[in-house]
Amino acid sequence: MNDVIVGAGQDMETASTLPPASYTSQAFFDLEMAKIFRRKWLPVGHIAQVPKVGDYFTIDVLNELLMVVRGADRIRVISRTCLHRWVPVASGAGNTRRFSCPFHLWASREGWTAGHGHLKANFPTSTVL
Ligand code: FES
Repeated sequence: MNDVIVGAGQDMETASTLPPASYTSQAFFDLEMAKIFRRKWLPVGHIAQVPKVGDYFTIDVLNELLMVVRGADRIRVISRTCLHRWVPVASGAGNTRRFSCPFHLWASREGWTAGHGHLKANFPTSTVL
């Protein structure tokens, strides 16, 4: 870490690449997460990846299991883990009216509810984008 800090502020003529340890150091990774990636909005996909209501794709960002879902009113990025026991409820990409946990069938809303919630009910079709 000190090798990186020592190099801060060098001009282009004297600057060098990051020390090799910066690519394997947990401390450096944690610092990058805190100082760079957790401070700003991050692009996670393109609007064209979810053209229809119910389209989704999954992503892992900063150790969070997420999914990008097109609702009738907007696109949301939400957790894809069941709040009961943190089971992933989706993988890959596709189109669905709801996400439900394979164990006890808790289903998605903007939060999670017991039973069979429906994506369509949560994303009114009257405001389709
Ligand atoms: S583990 Fe997901 S509903 Fe129970």
